[in-house]
Order: sequence, then C-alpha cells, then structure tokens
Amino acid sequence: MMTRREWMRQAAGAAAAAALPTVLTSSGHAASDKEATPGAGSLKAHAAARGLLTGCAVNANLFRDDPAFRQLLAEQYSIVVPENCLKFGYLRPTPDTWNFADADALVSFAEAHSMKVRGHNFVWHEALPNWFASTVNKDNARKFLVDHINTVANRYKGKIHSWDVVNEAIWIKDGRADGLRSSSPWFQMLGPEYLDLAYRTARKADPHALLTYNDYGIEYDTEDDTKKRDAVLRLLRRMKAAGTPIDALGVQSHIHTGDSSFAKGTRELLDGARSLGLQVFITEMDVNDDGVASDDIAVRDQEVAEVYRNYLNAMLRGPEVKAVLTWGATDKNTWLNNGPKFHPKHPTRAERPLPFDADYKPTPAFFAIRTSFDEAKRR
Ligand code: G3I
Repeated sequence: MMTRREWMRQAAGAAAAAALPTVLTSSGHAASDKEATPGAGSLKAHAAARGLLTGCAVNANLFRDDPAFRQLLAEQYSIVVPENCLKFGYLRPTPDTWNFADADALVSFAEAHSMKVRGHNFVWHEALPNWFASTVNKDNARKFLVDHINTVANRYKGKIHSWDVVNEAIWIKDGRADGLRSSSPWFQMLGPEYLDLAYRTARKADPHALLTYNDYGIEYDTEDDTKKRDAVLRLLRRMKAAGTPIDALGVQSHIHTGDSSFAKGTRELLDGARSLGLQVFITEMDVNDDGVASDDIAVRDQEVAEVYRNYLNAMLRGPEVKAVLTWGATDKNTWLNNGPKFHPKHPTRAERPLPFDADYKPTPAFFAIRTSFDEAKRR
C-alpha cells in the first residue's frame, strides 16, 4: 500500500516526465526538430492542433500499480475513461455500499494533469452485481435507476466531460421492430421509457456533462451493422423528438483487420448525428488482428495501423467528431486478451490492438492515429 507522501512524490515525478515525449524518444522514432518542443509529438498535441480530444480507457489495476503507465497517460492523452470502475457492479458491492476509490483516484489524476474524463456508464445490461437480480424488481427498478444516477453524477458533478448514460440498448436479435434490447433487465422492468428516464435524470444531476448514447457494431457497411446503425439512429431521432436531453453519439469502434468497408457506414453515422445536432465521440476504438494469417509482428502491426488510418480518415471527415479514444492504451491490457473467444483463429496469440505495445513503445497504430489527426480538418 502506497503512503500519501509516496503517491505525491510519484505523481510529481510523472508530471515532470510528462513534459518530455519520452515514449517517442526512447523508441527512436521521433528525432525531428518539431519534437524538440516538449510534448510536441504526443497524440494529444496532434489532436489538439485539429481541435480534437484524444484519450483511452484506463484499467484501474494498471493505473494503481504502474507509475510508467500513469506517465504514459499524462504524456499522451487529453481525456480518460475508466474501463470498469464506474460500472454499476463495480461501484456497488452491496445495495447500500459504494466503492468509489478507484474512480476518485482517476478523476483526481485527470484534474491534476488537466485532462478531461468520460463517465462510463450509468445504465447497461452487463456488469451488474450479483445481488441485482434478487433485489431489483418492477416495483423498485425506477428508484434504483434514479438513485444510482443521482448518487454517481452528483459525486463527480462538473468534473465529467461526457457521460455514457445508456450503453448498448440496441440488439437486433431480440426481434423488436424498434431494435431495442428487450432482454436487458432495465427494459424488462421499466419498458422502453427507461432510456428517457435515465437521460432526464442525468441532465438534472449534472447539467454540464454531455449526455451520450454509446453502442458498437454500427460502423461497417455490412447488413448486420446497417440494421443496427439504422435502429440506433431511429432511437436517437425518437428521443430527440420526445425532448429527451441527449448531446452525443458514442461510436465504440471495436473493429478488425481484413475489412475496411466503412465508407457508407461512417457517412450515415455522421449525417445522422449532424441532422440531430449531436456531437460524435469515437469512444472505444481498437483493432482486432485475429484475421491476419501471418504471425510476423511487423505484418500484423502494419495491417492494424492501416485499419486505424482508413477508419479514422473516414470518421474525421465529419466535424461532428470531437474526441477519439481507444479502449486501453497499451497491449499490456486489452479486453481482447481476456480469453480465446475474442481471437478464435489464433487462440494462443496475444492481440496487439492498441497504439502502444506491452512495453509502452509506440506501434505503427500510434503513428497511423497521429497521421489521421494531421490529415483531418480543424474543428
Ligand atoms: O473484478 C473481477 C475480479 O475480482 C476477478 O478476479 C476477475 C476474474 O476473471 O474478474 C474481474 O472482473 C472482470 C472485469 O472485467 C475486471 O477485470 C470481469 O470478469 C470481466 O467480465 C470484465 O470485463 C470487462 C467488460 O467490459 C465487462 O464489464 C472488460 O474489462 C472491459 O474492457 C469491457 O469493456 C466493454 C465496455 O464497457 C462496453 N463496450 C464493450 C467493451 C469491451 O467488451
């Protein structure tokens, strides 16, 4: 357990180190004059030049235990989002106890380093605690949902750039005409209006946070993604027409190698958001390379980088896109390595989906992301 003094000393060290693009200089990739300016080569510097925020999901264990990881965050990113520690089940070990320690630590760190924070998430069908099914029912679900949002939103009021108020509410396989995920416990207890209730409650609790709807599987031109994208855009249109407060669409962007067919998909997302006056955030980007046959790291990394470049170039055509976050920063921690089911063709091969490898060296994806920022119009 670190004492407060040790923690302060480490944090101060990280802040000083953050002034230098150590990650780049140590890789030997970035020796140009431009990068003699402190921090000039960082993702956040290139993003800021185009009016963009850039960030990543933060794993609480890595954040707590690894000063080099905290240094990487401070050096490279202007926005962070907790990977898990703001989820309902993580925050609430029992119905009446709260576990805010990890989220508090990340929010303080972000404040100390002038970074913004995304909140993920208030309402989701996953990551619910074990006690949920036996405790929450049709009679008290409304109170649980409203109390949960009020408690969490109030604690971080004024400190959150944007909240994923509802996450992944569309699931075509459930067979409803409106595409809503009827298997979600929130839907089953409260019906389709649980979404409007969540957004109205969040707006009242923290009027300054941008209220976001976040989903995945909506990016490609494929039939499945087109159906889901249509349903998401219909949901947003329906909520806007009902006067439900919503400011942004979060496009998770968990994509993969071997398919760069997102010209139509990304255009429809951007057009749809623009027509509703919504901002767009790329909230959880990573590139799964299970489809690359070669085991050669250089070949795999190159394919991943190309997908980053193609996708970001397509999305950043739209001035609606204001933030680009990856789901993790380093291949040391990625949900894609949480089991072989996420990479069935190469079950024993570790995924390399992020801009920094497991040793925190920038991968070709890092340079592809920076180039895409450079090629984007200023917003
Ligand atoms: O906390 C327990 C720990 O006590 C236990 O020892 C360990 C053993 O497996 O499990 C730990 O919980 C895991 C948790 O991550 C923290 O590591 C859960 O089993 C695991 O299911 C959970 O996975 C997370 C998943 O969401 C579900 O909440 C992933 O880390 C996280 O990357 C993933 O993120 C989601 C976004 O929230 C929404 N969009 C998709 C994205 C990827 O699936």
